[in-house]
Amino acid sequence: ATLPERSLEAVAEHIKSGKARRIVVMTGAGISTAAGIPDFRSPKTGLYSNLARLNLPYAEAVFDISYFRNRPEPFYVLAQELYPGKFHPTISHAFIALLAEKGLLQMLFTQNIDCLERAAGVPAEKIVEAHGSFATQRCIECKVEFPDEHMKAHVLRGDVPRCGECKGLVKPDITFFGEALPRAFSEKSHHTAMADLVLIIGTSLTVYPFASLPEMARKETPRVLFNMEKVGSLGSRSDDVLELGACDDGIRKLAELLGWTDELHDHWRN
Ligand code: OAD
Repeated sequence: ATLPERSLEAVAEHIKSGKARRIVVMTGAGISTAAGIPDFRSPKTGLYSNLARLNLPYAEAVFDISYFRNRPEPFYVLAQELYPGKFHPTISHAFIALLAEKGLLQMLFTQNIDCLERAAGVPAEKIVEAHGSFATQRCIECKVEFPDEHMKAHVLRGDVPRCGECKGLVKPDITFFGEALPRAFSEKSHHTAMADLVLIIGTSLTVYPFASLPEMARKETPRVLFNMEKVGSLGSRSDDVLELGACDDGIRKLAELLGWTDELHDHWRN
């Protein structure tokens, strides 16, 4: 085993000893719930259990490309609610930015489309937005990009933007079910095999191929899960540490053990 025991204390010692210089972080919607953005699958509070008003055949249809072609309106109802700009990064986002500042962040893989990791100050070259983001958008037919200001106006009104060239539907460059992930995902996933510590924060690990990333970590690389519930295969390896509960609590605890509390708070407020 790499860690003397399966605890956050041991993880903090691993970092303090200088043995963790290439930390890979993987995040999902749970890292942003404290910012006020609902996740997808939590019972009662998750988006998928609150979409009845949209009359979808099944919840995930709202992010399904073939459904979108016929009925883009439900997606744009959600987009109006989820559009970046009105939310602030959480303490867990700030922790990732602090890792980057300390030169310890090898790569962040996020499934989120809220852009809060950028807002927290994680450098763009350290972020892989595995499911795309709201940052850019294009026509699903002719692929011509659509201007940001026009997009913003449409989304804030809650109506469906159409391509200026061919009148095709415009969609943010978010990966829908039925679409390939951005090239950066496959190009950068090898960073996981280079990691000497993996932190997994706020994800149910149910959507592939992202869900297979933690499996790409080497056997001797400690993996730490900060999540409400146990997910994926986390816990199956001798160096897996499960920190179950709100991720901000677990991250605060780790920062405290590292002696980084003040720095973390400076980052959080900017
Ligand atoms: P999910 O909603 O599937 O999972 C969120 C996880 O975070 C759950 O395990 C929650 O228990 C946990 N969680 C919620 N709040 C938390 C908190 N404050 N602290 C710790 N854990 C918390 O979200 P994702 O795993 O991100 O894809 O979902 C993966 C993909 O499914 C999304 O990227 C999206 C969705 O369909 C697309 O839209 C393509």
